[in-house]
Amino acid sequence: MSRPRVLSGIQPTADSFHLGNYLGALRQWVAMQDSCDAFYCVVDLHAITVPQDPAVLRRRTRVAAAQLFGAGLDPDRCTVFVQSHVPEHVELAWVLGCLTGFGEASRMVQFKDKSAKAGPDTASVGLFTYPILQAADILLYQTDQVPVGEDQRQHLELTRDLAQRFNHRFGETFVIPRPYILPGVAKIADLQDPTIKMSKSSSSPQGIVDVLEDPAAIRRKIGRAVTDAGTEVRADEEAKPGITNLLRIYSALTGEAVASLEQRYAGAGYGTLKKDLADVVVNALAPVRERTEKMLADTDHLDRLLAQGASRARQVAGVTMAAVRDRVGLLPPS
Ligand code: TRP
Repeated sequence: MSRPRVLSGIQPTADSFHLGNYLGALRQWVAMQDSCDAFYCVVDLHAITVPQDPAVLRRRTRVAAAQLFGAGLDPDRCTVFVQSHVPEHVELAWVLGCLTGFGEASRMVQFKDKSAKAGPDTASVGLFTYPILQAADILLYQTDQVPVGEDQRQHLELTRDLAQRFNHRFGETFVIPRPYILPGVAKIADLQDPTIKMSKSSSSPQGIVDVLEDPAAIRRKIGRAVTDAGTEVRADEEAKPGITNLLRIYSALTGEAVASLEQRYAGAGYGTLKKDLADVVVNALAPVRERTEKMLADTDHLDRLLAQGASRARQVAGVTMAAVRDRVGLLPPS
């Protein structure tokens, strides 16, 4: 049996991915590269749905790609590419946009959240049609499974609806993709506010551990993580969200069950837990950071890997797009 086709995307909107990205996405992407036929893209076109400084975007796109390779994606075992290098994404997004109802697009909660934050007059049409571009990303590759976080469920529903609508109207063209929301993936919370998820947009830098951060800063942030009343090291979402988060991070990085950690740290106190956790995090991220830095030291090589990824992606995307043009009735150029 052939391996399931997988596609996922991540935005190049920070100078480093954070621990939440690493544990919630990148590590799973790496794990899936052998069991699946995986395509991973750095979605720079999604990034420009909100204002970006051009030089910064260019830099962050390379840094994002370097981190994907640094985290362990192997260009010989999966396809890593930059979204804008494959023009079929935009082309299919236009066609799908013509099949999307205005009301349907208006119901996307991520748009409502983001545009509320941006203010009603500053949200762009690109931000509004963001989920349609995401549907194009997925459908171009005849994707079976899309590894994403829970927050992307609605976008996946739209993608499935659009695929079914197209197939119904124009004939079987797209595989209907399924979200692959990983069971047991650790939800990592902010170190300063453990009631919200770790996210670049929602906290001070003190609440976030970056993958590329230097060890001293990582130790400092974990040392200063907000903890809870009492002294007992015990997971309890309600009463002890801070300690629960630290235990989850520890467990996710070492594979040791939270219950076993609770036993091991019984009577040890918060300070000991934090000190050990700092070692665990520093040791887990060090090889990723080192490989990423090595990739960034040779951008010619990095750019060649991305060109190779784009060329493989275009081979697949081009076949789908040719079928789409034909089905829709676009006159072929002669
Ligand atoms: N919207 C996704 C996110 O914010 C990123 C994304 C863009 C994506 N295109 C995709 C994820 C295609 C999966 C598949 O996380």
